[in-house]
Amino acid sequence: MNLLILGRGKTGSLVADVARERGHQDAVLCSADNPQSAALTPEKLSKVDVVIDFTTPQAVLGNIEACVRAEKNMVVGTTGWYGELARVRQMVEETGVGFLYGANFSIGINLFYDAARVAAAALQHQYLGQIFERHHAKKKDAPSGTAAALQKIIRDACGTELEIISFREGDVVGMHEVVLNSPNDTVYLCHDSKSRRGFAEGAIRAAEWLAGKKGFYDFKDVWREM
Ligand SMILES: NC(=O)c1ccc[n+]([C@@H]2O[C@H](COP(=O)([O-])OP(=O)(O)OC[C@H]3O[C@@H](n4cnc5c(N)ncnc54)[C@H](OP(=O)(O)O)[C@@H]3O)[C@@H](O)[C@H]2O)c1
Repeated sequence: MNLLILGRGKTGSLVADVARERGHQDAVLCSADNPQSAALTPEKLSKVDVVIDFTTPQAVLGNIEACVRAEKNMVVGTTGWYGELARVRQMVEETGVGFLYGANFSIGINLFYDAARVAAAALQHQYLGQIFERHHAKKKDAPSGTAAALQKIIRDACGTELEIISFREGDVVGMHEVVLNSPNDTVYLCHDSKSRRGFAEGAIRAAEWLAGKKGFYDFKDVWREM
């Protein structure tokens, strides 16, 4: 496929590496190449099969609007714009393009979410739970978005809000644990990231899956089909 990757940052650069490894043609644009989404006209996108966005919350909505206007299929990994989700969904469905977004493109994390949803049943059987998350010392925000997502999944599944305990230490890429403790035993669920490559591989698989499709998709609902 011909892929256009928006964002040459930590994740976009890896997405470009994985695209080439999987035999795709790609071009990568940074902010200077695409001010106010100027590089996303129908003419400039005419040979592109799918656009992939790993930019910023400030840039992403302009990019989405331009791609939808150009009727170009798009995968969006950028987060921080979900307040506009309903409007984007309507735009996508009216135009009839293919659009896939996701807060986390790692297959392992999505599997972990499903495992946590199932394990939440323990909280109705005298188990007490906690979420632990560990990241490198330079990570500014806490708790992580992934820990917050785990907390919401468990709350939606069984009505209990688990405490999140955050650690910032060394160069840990990202470790998340759900621990469920009863007087009789302890259940440990753990996901330990080794690199950001899982995100990049998920994004390229998503683009391959979306090629030629129409509709509005969330990665967490469709990753099993990829
Ligand atoms: N869904 C997932 O699995 C997943 C995984 C990782 C990250 N993310 C999200 O993806 C986004 C990017 O993360 P990151 O860590 O890669 O950030 P990053 O290293 O800061 O990179 C952001 C990139 O976006 C570029 N950019 C800004 N405006 C642009 C525009 N109009 N057109 C093209 N490029 C533009 C920046 O270019 P300049 O440097 O030239 O300004 C920079 O290269 C964040 O929202 C993050 O939360 C999602």
